[in-house]
Order: sequence, then C-alpha cells, then structure tokens
Amino acid sequence: MQRIQNSKMYFIFIHIFLLILLCTSMYAYSPWIRTKVKEILEPADKIYTIAHRGASGYAPENTIPAFELAIDMDTDYIELDIQLTKDRVPVVIHDETINRTTNGTGYVKNYTLEQLSKLDAGSWFNEQYPMFAREQYAGLRIPTLEEVFERFGKEVDYMIEIKDPALYPNIETILNEQIEKYNLSDHVSVHSFSEASLRKLHSINPEIPLYQIVWYNIPVYKVPESFINRVKTYAVGISPNFQRINSSYVAQVKNSGLKVFPYTVNYQVNMDKAVVWGVDGVHTNFPDRFNEVIKNNKK
Ligand code: G3P
Ligand code: CA
Repeated sequence: MQRIQNSKMYFIFIHIFLLILLCTSMYAYSPWIRTKVKEILEPADKIYTIAHRGASGYAPENTIPAFELAIDMDTDYIELDIQLTKDRVPVVIHDETINRTTNGTGYVKNYTLEQLSKLDAGSWFNEQYPMFAREQYAGLRIPTLEEVFERFGKEVDYMIEIKDPALYPNIETILNEQIEKYNLSDHVSVHSFSEASLRKLHSINPEIPLYQIVWYNIPVYKVPESFINRVKTYAVGISPNFQRINSSYVAQVKNSGLKVFPYTVNYQVNMDKAVVWGVDGVHTNFPDRFNEVIKNNKK
C-alpha cells in the first residue's frame, strides 16, 4: 500500500516538475509569451509614460543623459529615433541632418560613425535652453543604438522610431539584428510614420510590438474602419498627434483592440485631458509631469 502511494506521489511530482520545466522554457524562448505574461501581470488600466527623445524637455534630446534622466523620473519607455551612418551603423538622432542638434552640417548618411563621433551633440541645448543648461552637456556625443542598449539593457523599455527608411535600405534588418544581439525582443517596441517599414519589420520579426504613427493636419474624430483594420494586420497600436484628436477618436481606436499613444503632450492641462479620454499613454518631453498627472488622476 505504502509503495503504491509512494509511486503515485512520484508520478505527480514528475509531472509537476515537467510542467514547470515546460512553462519556464516557453517563457525563456518565446518573447510573445513574455509579452503576454507582462500584459496579464500589469493592471489593465495601466497608463504608460513614454519619454519622447528621452527627458528632452530637460536635457539634449536623444542623448544618454536625456535617457538617464527619463529613467530617474520613472518613465516606462524611452523613445528614440534612429538613422544610419555611411558605414550603416544605427545612431540615435532625430533629424536626417546633423545641422540642428550638433556643431556639424550635412546628412547623417554621409558621415561614418568615426566622423560623427567627433561632433558635439549637447551645446546647442545649453544655448537654446539656458534655464536647463549644464556644463556636462557640452561635448556630448551622438549615441549609437548599441551604446544605448549596452548602457540601459533591460532596465527600461524602448520605443524606437525608424526615421526616413527610404534613405536607408534594410534598416529594419539591421535594427532587428541589434535587438536580437542584446536579447531585448521583449523590451523593444518600434514605431514609424512609414507603414511600409513597419510591415517589413513585422515580416522579419512578428513578435516586436509595432505602432503606426500618424500626423493629421485637420481634426479627426472618426477613424475610417478600413484604416483600423489595415493597421491591425501588422501593428498593436496607433500614435496620433494629440492636437487633432478627441475622446471619440481614442474610444474608437481602443474599442477596436488597438492601443493609442498620442504625441507629444507636454502641458499638464493636456495630459489631464488625455487621461480622461482613456489613452494608453502619451509621448512627452516631461515624463515627471505626466507621472504626476497619472498619480493625481488615481486619487
Ligand atoms: O513620439 C512620436 C514622435 O516620435 C513622432 O514625431 O518627429 O518627434 O519623431 P517626432
Ligand atoms: Ca520620434
């Protein structure tokens, strides 16, 4: 009798052990499962703070200090823009030229990484925003995407924008290689104005959550269903410019099952409005302000 009971216990134990082993392996090897688990564990009404080009209201955009500051302010995502150098290295810079945010001139694509790394990507900020100027911003370098991944790893989630994909054939493949190299598939989302680029990335790696950025020149309170259905074939959400949408827009997109992350919301009065409309999060240059708004709305 005792022997039968022991073998039953052994049988149950082995099966529980195998089940745990199976679940942990699936969790370890499938970013899709990790994303789903994360979604289940996070409250359904979680509102995300996306630090637009880092905490770019306080520090030079798309630089390591802007990302550090955003993380200190407890952002959920750091948003950053990528372009490719002449030697096809992804670098973190918003414009296709270096004119506005460095002391150089010309197209990013015409400079090698070595040439770009000699530029000052911080002094412009000190001159333009003296109230937030800091000595250490002078002489900052344009970071490579790899430097950002190496510096922050899995400490934060990334919202990476593929900029000007027409200028950079196969930028999607290069981006995916870097995400995989740093094992960050479950920490990276990608967004772009270019549907073609998002579709291409989706075909390369369907597990990366994608967001379609849209720009409206006129108010849009109703989205064509055909557009929503099209976006749903490759993306998980839409990021519209905040100034042209309203609560019906947000409700319609959310009811369709897509997320909605308006940009770029910098004033608390607008942040309040966005939260009342039910957005899933906003892109902001001031992540601390938005976190305060989320906290106050919970009270
Ligand atoms: O956050 C959305 C935004 O990144 C799109 O516009 O020009 O700031 O990259 P932009
Ligand atoms: Ca961007």
